[in-house]
Amino acid sequence: MKKSNGNLIHSFNIAVFISGRGSNLLSIIKKSLKRNSVFKVSLVLSNKGSAKGLELAKKYGIKTLVSDFTKSKAKEKKVIKIVNKNQIKLICLAGFMKILSNNFIKSFRGKIINIHPSLLPKYKGLNTHEKVVKNKDTYTGCTVHFVTKKLDSGEIILKKKVRVKINDNKITIEKKVLKIEHKIYPEAIVKVLSNF
Ligand code: GRF
Repeated sequence: MKKSNGNLIHSFNIAVFISGRGSNLLSIIKKSLKRNSVFKVSLVLSNKGSAKGLELAKKYGIKTLVSDFTKSKAKEKKVIKIVNKNQIKLICLAGFMKILSNNFIKSFRGKIINIHPSLLPKYKGLNTHEKVVKNKDTYTGCTVHFVTKKLDSGEIILKKKVRVKINDNKITIEKKVLKIEHKIYPEAIVKVLSNF
């Protein structure tokens, strides 16, 4: 609990799971460092030791963990234990390229969210920007949603659109979408936590 203007603010511990670059992780960390933030990034987990985002987490003094736990029950059990020990209230997948087991999802029911680079339910899965180009869509965007057993299908928390112009390509679309991802992911986290 923190005090602001005499009011108590609850600060929730969150974990961010990554596999690579970590640009969404950075936007989440930056939001968490703002005055009166309602959350703190207490743990960053990567399934890959080479993930650039791990360096970012270390730079900000955040506890890191490298574990490719999705294919080992024993490793998964350990991760569940660590998440609980750190009193993590929300797990945010940010470019985490592994599928979580049903057991893991059940262990944190309603407490795992993900960001997806399309306007769900359109374009579940990979290569979303290629699909936008191929179908000559005039809009695309990103979606933050709850993680359930069915890939990219859980309840939508926030969604934001961006215009696709005639000379846009996969790269320029990715850039545009990433920019709005960085805006809505921290907002979605606050929205979810406000219901806890
Ligand atoms: C983002 O586009 C996210 O929507 C997708 O993977 C990418 C991760 O980027 N799931 P980063 O690691 O956050 O920079």
